[in-house]
Amino acid sequence: MKREIEEAAAYLRARVGEVPKLALVLGSGLGGLADEVEEAVVVPYGEIPHFPVSTAPVHAGRLVAGRLAGRRVLVMQGRFHFYEGHPMERVAFPVRVFRALGVEKLFLTNAAGGANLGYAPGDFMLISDHINLTGQNPCIGPNDDSTGLRFFDMSKAYDPELRAIARRAGKELGLELREGVYAWFTGPSFETPAEIRLARTLGADAVGMSTVPEVIAAVHCGLRVLGISCVTNMAAGILDQPITGEEVLEISARRRPEFSALVRRIVELAVQAGR
Ligand code: HPA
Repeated sequence: MKREIEEAAAYLRARVGEVPKLALVLGSGLGGLADEVEEAVVVPYGEIPHFPVSTAPVHAGRLVAGRLAGRRVLVMQGRFHFYEGHPMERVAFPVRVFRALGVEKLFLTNAAGGANLGYAPGDFMLISDHINLTGQNPCIGPNDDSTGLRFFDMSKAYDPELRAIARRAGKELGLELREGVYAWFTGPSFETPAEIRLARTLGADAVGMSTVPEVIAAVHCGLRVLGISCVTNMAAGILDQPITGEEVLEISARRRPEFSALVRRIVELAVQAGR
């Protein structure tokens, strides 16, 4: 795995040149933001050694390096989900490559179902913590001690300073930001009403099928993490209506302007000018 990480990193260094310090992962329906990157160098995942190829609908599957809000960023337009059949270490692979490239901050976004009864579709939620309900973990297996510790702390997985920046960005833009706990289910089935009651009882505010593996791998290798969910629907059993993938994409697309403004401002505040 270490050799594969290094080969992917060497390839990207050659393609991208100086690598940005902040990487952004765009979730379902939110990938359009990558089109706003200026001075873009676009690398399809299929060209990067050992990178998996994304099969999720409307996940474009490319890495875009360039500028957003004047700051240099590396954007993953499309991520790898466990439900696609990728082994956990492949889901986390890009994060480890970012680390090898010198990335310091990882900003993850996703579409999520609202489990908190006070939430509404279209809300943005700053992730304060997560619950891993899957029994999966990308760090299972031999530990590379040069990357991170065998046993590592997750008590501040979502960086307090980056969260403060996100709150500030939301306030400046007049956007209400919820703040809550994200619970990870593997999918691809949406949850049952009973599973949502379970998650809510355990303290979850939103549920989704991504992000947690990347966060665990990122904390392991010392990246500072920020996560934001776009609540695209109320989770199962809250409303008397089925949940559909179309609805998820429709709501995230509808919130694109606000989401874009929020992400841009956060990037601007989180990356020093000139970098
Ligand atoms: N459950 C899981 N993942 C999701 C949901 C949901 O309700 N909405 C968007 N992603």
